[in-house]
Amino acid sequence: MQPIRKTELLQDAVRISRLAGSLLKDRLLTDFSVMHKGDVDLVTEMDRSAQDLIEREILVKYPDHGIMAEEDLDLRGSSGFLWIVDPLDGTTNYAHRFPVFSVSIAVVYEDETLCGVVYNPVSDEIFKALSGEGASLNAMPLGVSNTGQLTDSLLGTGFPYNIRETAQPTLGHFERFVRKAQDIRRCGSAALDLCFVACGRLDGFWELGLKPWDVAAGTLIVREAGGKVTDFSGNKLERDTSQVLASNGRIHNQMIEVLLKGE
Ligand code: IPD
Ligand code: CA
Ligand code: CA
Repeated sequence: MQPIRKTELLQDAVRISRLAGSLLKDRLLTDFSVMHKGDVDLVTEMDRSAQDLIEREILVKYPDHGIMAEEDLDLRGSSGFLWIVDPLDGTTNYAHRFPVFSVSIAVVYEDETLCGVVYNPVSDEIFKALSGEGASLNAMPLGVSNTGQLTDSLLGTGFPYNIRETAQPTLGHFERFVRKAQDIRRCGSAALDLCFVACGRLDGFWELGLKPWDVAAGTLIVREAGGKVTDFSGNKLERDTSQVLASNGRIHNQMIEVLLKGE
């Protein structure tokens, strides 16, 4: 694979996420339909429209690439390239017209994530990273915070859709962090939470029950910004793991200690 290819993939991922993000932003205050996938898990007409647009744009240029996207899209492709896509991360917010959501796109070659993009169309912020070459927010290079103590840290988290059935251990983790950290935010888009760690707005983030499309782009962006992403025990993140712990690196062990307490 030529190095130019990686840059070109990133440019295409940025272009496509901007197209999908504009569509989502333009339709936010319109009358779109909302369906239930589960008791609390929603899907809107716009999740599917954004995904269709992204699929079309990828395949017109890269017909042999695979795509794994949240709304039941699993194309294998024959080239070894796989696009991991969340067309609308923050569906519950979107369905309530709460203006915090994003488009998340990563491109993986065999097992390596080559590039990742998370676009927030409301603030017009493009978070992006190229493996081995750093991360940026719009044109500005990104770096994680310097906070060294959990007590001084602003953390992010989220709650899985099955929380009504499995409130523990999520509420246990939440309670312990409330007692230890400076404060906690629940923004409703895990992809944005990861980017907020990458740019230092958050010092750390944890969530249970996430899927590859929630975290593929954001994980690369955090790492390329100098942060750390592992599972709750500090082990390497596997693609199918549902535990995600991201931090500026300095508070990582303190977060692991809180997560593992009581297990
Ligand atoms: C959800 C968001 C949310 C997180 C959920 C995810 P969706 O993704 O990232 O912040 O707490 O676990 O499923 O369904 O809005 O794409
Ligand atoms: Ca998601
Ligand atoms: Ca989604």
